Amino acid sequence: MKIFTEPKKLQKWCLAQRLAGKKIALVPTMGYLHEGHMSLIKAAKRKGADEIVVSVFVNPVQFGPNEDYEKYPRDAAADEAKCREAGATAIFFPTPENMYLDAHSVYVNEEKLSTGLCGARRPGHFRGVCTVVAKLFNLAHPNFAVFGQKDYQQAQIIKRMVRDLNFDLDIVVAPIVREKSGLAKSSRNTYLSEKEKEMALAISRSLKAPKSTAAITKELTEAGLKVDYVECVDATTLEPKKKIEKGTCVLIAAYCGKTRLIDNKVIK
Ligand code: PAF
Repeated sequence: MKIFTEPKKLQKWCLAQRLAGKKIALVPTMGYLHEGHMSLIKAAKRKGADEIVVSVFVNPVQFGPNEDYEKYPRDAAADEAKCREAGATAIFFPTPENMYLDAHSVYVNEEKLSTGLCGARRPGHFRGVCTVVAKLFNLAHPNFAVFGQKDYQQAQIIKRMVRDLNFDLDIVVAPIVREKSGLAKSSRNTYLSEKEKEMALAISRSLKAPKSTAAITKELTEAGLKVDYVECVDATTLEPKKKIEKGTCVLIAAYCGKTRLIDNKVIK
């Protein structure tokens, strides 16, 4: 497995692979990899990628001033081992300094799908996500990139960015991976105490057969969680919908203690 830290070196290598006719998959991550991330790497393999590039970068630009950028868990050695195990062929570990050169002043802003849900609660978050993902696309020259459905709004925004900025690649969205208990896998689950992990189960439970956003809010509040939002939206446009029905997506963001967790369900 190749290991890159320099953006230019990754870009040169990826371009050479593309010119040699190889199919490249990019799996963008912020590291502290868990089975959810491994499933993205495996999805890339199943889709026939010759080279699977995993980026591991806690992107400072997508964190608000009072969020957990400093505290976000990091473990480069474990990430490297997990990438190897899952079948990645290259790993990219840039630093904030080599991703954002002095006086970096160009950002990518999606202006519609990012206005609600997490975008409304985390100002600037999706601007940071779109900017780093656009940079990664330019560096890795992927034929396709794999994102997880857990970050549902993010996946829709990236698809829109690809469409609107004419990136020549496909976006693959892989299903949510859950603990046996139902809790959606997340690097932030490491913040949870045993008691909080129990409380957090209300989130996936409430999405099993969701009846109304009000009923979900009640269930989460009764379990001791602090609801940030529970919303039902059109699964593609993310416009608010009154009724939970086919073609909609129900999304939850809730605080379990100090940890903000997200989850969702697309109604098929
Ligand atoms: O989903 C994430 O882990 C991040 O938002 C991403 C896509 C790697 C961009 O930093």
